[in-house]
Formats: sequence, C-alpha cells, structure tokens
Amino acid sequence: MPANIIDGKKIAESLLEQSASEVSMLSPKPCLAIFLVGENPASLVYTKKKADACKKIGIESRMVKLPASASEQQIVSEIKTLNSDHSVDAILVQLPLPDAIDEDNVLAAVAAEKDVDGFHPQNLGKLALGTPGIAPCTPKGVIYLLKQSNVQLSGKRAVVIGRSRIVGKPLALLLLNENCTVTICHSKTPDIGAMTREADIVCVAVGKPNTLTSDMVKKGAVVIDVGINREGEKLKGDVDFEGVSKKASLITPVPGGVGPMTVAMLMQNTIACYRNRHKK
Ligand SMILES: NC(=O)c1ccc[n+]([C@@H]2O[C@H](COP(=O)([O-])OP(=O)(O)OC[C@H]3O[C@@H](n4cnc5c(N)ncnc54)[C@H](OP(=O)(O)O)[C@@H]3O)[C@@H](O)[C@H]2O)c1
Repeated sequence: MPANIIDGKKIAESLLEQSASEVSMLSPKPCLAIFLVGENPASLVYTKKKADACKKIGIESRMVKLPASASEQQIVSEIKTLNSDHSVDAILVQLPLPDAIDEDNVLAAVAAEKDVDGFHPQNLGKLALGTPGIAPCTPKGVIYLLKQSNVQLSGKRAVVIGRSRIVGKPLALLLLNENCTVTICHSKTPDIGAMTREADIVCVAVGKPNTLTSDMVKKGAVVIDVGINREGEKLKGDVDFEGVSKKASLITPVPGGVGPMTVAMLMQNTIACYRNRHKK
C-alpha cells in the first residue's frame, strides 16, 4: 500500500492560525528583528517570507540590514544594540553569513532569551540536557508534524541522516527527548542503509537528492524529508519519493512537507521569547 502523505502545508497553516489567535490577545505585540548581512538571493526570499508571516499573524517585524562588506565587529555591535532594545523580543540572524564572518561568534552574541532560532550555545546546551528552552525551528517543526500525524515516538528507533547545528543535531536531541532510540549518520558513516533498515522513523537532512532510496527503508517506516534541492525550476528533497513512498507508511513530500513548518515554528518561537520576557 502506498504511504500516507503528511500535509505540512495544511498543518503549518493551522499552526499559523493558532499563533494569530494567541497574538491577538497580547499587548504590546511581539516584535521580531530579522538581521540580514549582504544580498544573498535565497536569504532575501527567506527573510521576506518570514516578515510576511509576521504581518499575517500580527507580529511586528523589523528588518535590520548590513552590507556584505560589514566586519564581524560591526555585526556583533548591531546585534548588541538589538539585545538591549526593550521593544525587540526576538532576534533572527539569517544564515549563511558572508564567508569572512565567524558564524559561531555572531550567533553567540545574540542574547540567549532573544535567540528565536535556538542556535545560541546556551539554548543548544538546554536542548542537550532536555530542559526547557528555545529549540531550532525546522527540527521542532519535524516533531510537530510527527505528533500531528499521531506517530508514537517513545520507544521507537529513529535514524537522523545529517548532523548540522541547524537540523540534524537538534533533531536527534529532540527525538531523544521524546524517548526515541536515536542513531545519527553523516558523511563518514559507512553503510547508512544498515542503520536505516532497522529504523521506525528516518529523517533525512543532507542536501543531496536520492540520499534515501527504497532499499534503505523497512516496510511501514515513517520518513521525513528535510532536504531542499533545486533541479531547474523544480524543488526536490533528499528522499527518492517515488520508490520510498511505496514502502513507507507515512512520508513528507517536497515541497509541502517540512518546509512550511519552519516559518510556522518561527512564529511560535517568537511568541515564546515574548512570553518569557514579559512573563505572560
Ligand atoms: N525545510 C526547511 O525548512 C529546511 C531548513 C533547513 C535546511 N533545509 C535543507 O536540509 C538540508 C540539510 O541542511 P543543513 O543546513 O543541515 O545542511 P549542512 O549543514 O550542509 O549539513 C549536511 C549534513 O549532511 C551530511 N552529509 C553530507 N553528505 C552526506 C552523505 N552522502 N551521506 C550522509 N550524510 C551526508 C553532512 O555530514 P558531515 O557533517 O560529515 O559533513 C552534514 O552533517 C538542505 O537541503 C537544506 O536546504 C531545509
């Protein structure tokens, strides 16, 4: 039987509606600062999408732009200004930063309580400890999709392919915090198929098409495709959707799976930063 498809677009829209109703009861309104360095075309598209979502649900957004030539010192100084600005609840640093800039230094400069993406070492440390904090949006979106699809997580064997700070590592920690038994695979893992064939849940966040093929999954597995790959005008995930969907019980498509959840979770994280700061 072909897999059921997880409709990430629909689940994200309903979460956005929930966020809009939460925001309608808040005064003053939450404010998200979106920090962009340079003119990377993809970053311009993503930051616009994030600002549009804020507008749609009633969150104030403030774009802060610096030229690609900005020094690390200038960037950090601008972030410190936002940290001490009482009207700003949450700060997002759009990645990637220009090559000459040390991403770790910049992300660590964001005040932990305004770190809406959950990339600050303090928030990643809390995630590793399993204590409450702000978790990164995309992995949090994956857990939300799984729960909304009634996937039982506790006791399940999960494999995450990819170990980035943005997706793979935090996703593995979130699954562990949900009592999954988690294996992380990466570019140096030999025979990834041997791990994934044992898994009840397989999440792929690599950035290469066909990383997961049908011979690598067991019948009835749940498959989450985080990857986004451009093939001409078309978007493709990391999973061979056609083959894998014949064996999996549940699968996310690309586009329309994990993608829309990232912005929806960003809105939730902005509200969470606001509530923490205003004790509401
Ligand atoms: N849907 C969304 O909203 C969303 C959000 C963020 C990212 N994404 C997408 O998700 C994908 C991953 O993003 P990212 O930021 O995590 O990428 P990344 O920082 O480039 O990390 C990729 C990870 O994949 C691993 N890898 C590379 N080749 C591999 C292979 N052949 N087999 C197994 N593992 C391999 C790398 O291993 P090493 O660590 O050993 O190098 C690394 O850990 C991209 O397509 C990105 O566009 C989507």
